[in-house]
Amino acid sequence: MTFLFKNYLLNILKCAILSLSKKKWGKILEHYFTNNQNLKSEIRSINFSFDAYNFMFKSDNGVFSKNKIDYASLFLVKTFFANKEKDYDRILDIGCGYGFIGITLSKVLNKHVDMYDINKRAVHLCKMNIKENGVDATAEESNIYGNVEGKYDLIITNPPIRAGKDTLMEFLTGGLARLNKDGELWFVISKNQGAKSVQKEVEKIGTIVKVDQSKGFYVFCAKN
Ligand SMILES: C[S@@+](CC[C@H](N)C(=O)[O-])C[C@H]1O[C@@H](n2cnc3c(N)ncnc32)[C@H](O)[C@@H]1O
Repeated sequence: MTFLFKNYLLNILKCAILSLSKKKWGKILEHYFTNNQNLKSEIRSINFSFDAYNFMFKSDNGVFSKNKIDYASLFLVKTFFANKEKDYDRILDIGCGYGFIGITLSKVLNKHVDMYDINKRAVHLCKMNIKENGVDATAEESNIYGNVEGKYDLIITNPPIRAGKDTLMEFLTGGLARLNKDGELWFVISKNQGAKSVQKEVEKIGTIVKVDQSKGFYVFCAKN
């Protein structure tokens, strides 16, 4: 009897641990860059003004910063416009999400911008947002630079830190390799997410300048 009761308790404990770890891993594995087509769609609109331009971005479940423009991305764009020293022809926003960075640059600079992301839903939203905001841009799927062709004068990104160090470094070193002569790679990264070690890694293959910092986020401009 005691043996049966012990077994019964043990089984309850096992079930509880299993269901808890499923929930935990489910959350950890379900990042904004995983292509989960089963995720319920709840499209929402984000209104945003920058430099006398009004933007409207459609967003949805399963994409990065779905409810508001991300602080780091906004800091990157503001820092870029406050410090840029020249004009750029070929422009790339890599890891574009629903398109905030690339669409804002395209509108303010009045230039074509190529945008890529691995997340199908983000790319779909980005295509909608390009039309909605009337800018000259394209959005396509790509695993990092897999579908990206040619070289650029400006590559700009808020890279996906949670995708891991290898992906992060491929965003940056792959970006440097795709710059035209005198081209620039602008990116934002948080101090807590290894900004200093990333800076050291990039210094091994190019030059890198910390342009500004705010609330623990650093904006860098790197060149070959
Ligand atoms: C930090 S978010 C920035 C999104 C957007 N640029 C913004 O500012 O709102 C990083 C983006 O990189 C995308 N991403 C993650 N891994 C990727 C990969 N291997 N190739 C391309 N994009 C990736 C994610 O889907 C996400 O949209």
